[in-house]
Amino acid sequence: ETVDWDTEDTGKGGYDHYMLKEIHEQPHAIRQCLSGRVDELHGRVELEELDGLSTPKRVQFIACGTSYHAGLYAAHLFREMGVPAQTFIASEYATSPPPVGEDELVVAITQSGETADTLSALREAKARGAETLALTNVVGSSVTRECDHTMYIRAGPEIGVAASKTFTSQLVAVNLLVEAMNGNDAGVLTGLRDLAGDLQSVLDRVNVRSAAAQLAAADRCFFVGRGLNHPVALEGALKFKEITYVHAEGFPAGELKHGSLALVTEDTPVVAVLTGDDEETRKTIGNIKEVESRDAPVIAVTDGRVEVASFVDECIQIPETHPHVAPLLANVVLQLIAYRSANLLGRSIDKPRNLAKSVTVE
Ligand code: G6P
Repeated sequence: ETVDWDTEDTGKGGYDHYMLKEIHEQPHAIRQCLSGRVDELHGRVELEELDGLSTPKRVQFIACGTSYHAGLYAAHLFREMGVPAQTFIASEYATSPPPVGEDELVVAITQSGETADTLSALREAKARGAETLALTNVVGSSVTRECDHTMYIRAGPEIGVAASKTFTSQLVAVNLLVEAMNGNDAGVLTGLRDLAGDLQSVLDRVNVRSAAAQLAAADRCFFVGRGLNHPVALEGALKFKEITYVHAEGFPAGELKHGSLALVTEDTPVVAVLTGDDEETRKTIGNIKEVESRDAPVIAVTDGRVEVASFVDECIQIPETHPHVAPLLANVVLQLIAYRSANLLGRSIDKPRNLAKSVTVE
């Protein structure tokens, strides 16, 4: 008797697609990223690779695609610690480079380390005298050779064209960077320590079937979030459109009403990401009510700290954790929704049409 041996399937480790495998590899990827970098005893992040790099006066992030969303998240955390920070789409930075001030750090975020737009922006930054840091996954990639410093996200190889685990690892690395520079917030470090387990519980418990079916049946859908959940909403929409080919757009929750609300009807599902229970979350609830009064179905991804289940169409719950870390858990739900929707539609999930994993032309 012979057994069919399909090497493709073996590589997928029993999963139907690399993307699903890589989504499930995230707890491991997180542990890898944290490994040896957090001194639990003293509650300190120690990044040997950043020896000689002091806390910058200002920061600019340059990146494309999913990495750009990681940059938006990163800038938000730096601003929260009082460091002026901006994020630029690399191709625009290269076209119209902003001034680089003294003690300004320019961080190139690129999974592959080979994206032409990002490298080109980086060269513009260097020409203006910036100190540079690469945040990348690929050891020895071009970006590492061109930057003064490199921090690896250690996600391991990613085969699926649509980034999944590498985005999560980028956000973990950004948290480490911020904690190393900002004095180690015990709450964040606890959130990071628990993250792999919390993410595993999302993978084990969350059911996205009905949300995915609803979105797969729509002609278009919106994703909204505020603050740190804004990049998550953008990434959720990008992931969704990349692999389902259904039009999806992400917005800062407060911005939808300034124009795009005109498109909202009973046929445009809105996915709202809301974590925490602060003023921002309450404002997002106001925005949800605006779309609901236009009869749009609302799917909320929430840690349950504010009550939304009673007025949204569907509520998907993630564990409670530190506000810096919660968006990473919400993101996993959006990955699963995109994956399930694309699967229902029979799309080429690992290799979406027209897209490449690494784009080496401008
Ligand atoms: C391509 C990929 C995207 C990726 C972007 C940036 O467009 O399809 O998934 O986010 O490049 O890639 P990088 O390797 O620089 O993070």
